[in-house]
Amino acid sequence: MKISPKMKKSLNDQVALEGAASNSYLAMASWCEVTGYEGAANYFYAQSDEERTHMLKIIHYLNDMGAASTIPAIQSPLSTFKSLEGILKIALKNEQTVTAAIHKMVEITQKEKDHSTYAFLEWFVNEQVQEETKFETLLQKFELIGRDKLAINEIDKILAAESPTPVDSTA
Ligand SMILES: [Fe+2]
Ligand SMILES: [Fe+2]
Repeated sequence: MKISPKMKKSLNDQVALEGAASNSYLAMASWCEVTGYEGAANYFYAQSDEERTHMLKIIHYLNDMGAASTIPAIQSPLSTFKSLEGILKIALKNEQTVTAAIHKMVEITQKEKDHSTYAFLEWFVNEQVQEETKFETLLQKFELIGRDKLAINEIDKILAAESPTPVDSTA
């Protein structure tokens, strides 16, 4: 079982993209933390961890396939934001970019009849549906609840409740 050089490059590009996503969510978490959005900060710290696990999944897959992975450089992400809603909009856009990249890889696997990588990517295809839905639903909250201080506080609480794993930054 071997993957093509093209597939290897695409997967390595995806390692970089997941790493960049992790970094970007880290910047969002940090901004939320200093701004006083505690729930959102926890949410994005956890989201950053999640993206790192995605990156690791691909690194392990490449290595398992005998196509050593390339660890990308860390680029400094966008780190100044206007509002919580602005952050969620950027997050949704980032996820849409990731989805497009995953779909492109799936197309390569189909062309190359690379069934192993096709099966490997299935998890990512499903994950992206959830990721996009998650941010779309959160963005709807601004329409439903509002954009004043009380509304944003309410949305921050919703984010706190939806944090997949509360990150204990003091540990
Ligand atoms: Fe991801
Ligand atoms: Fe994601």
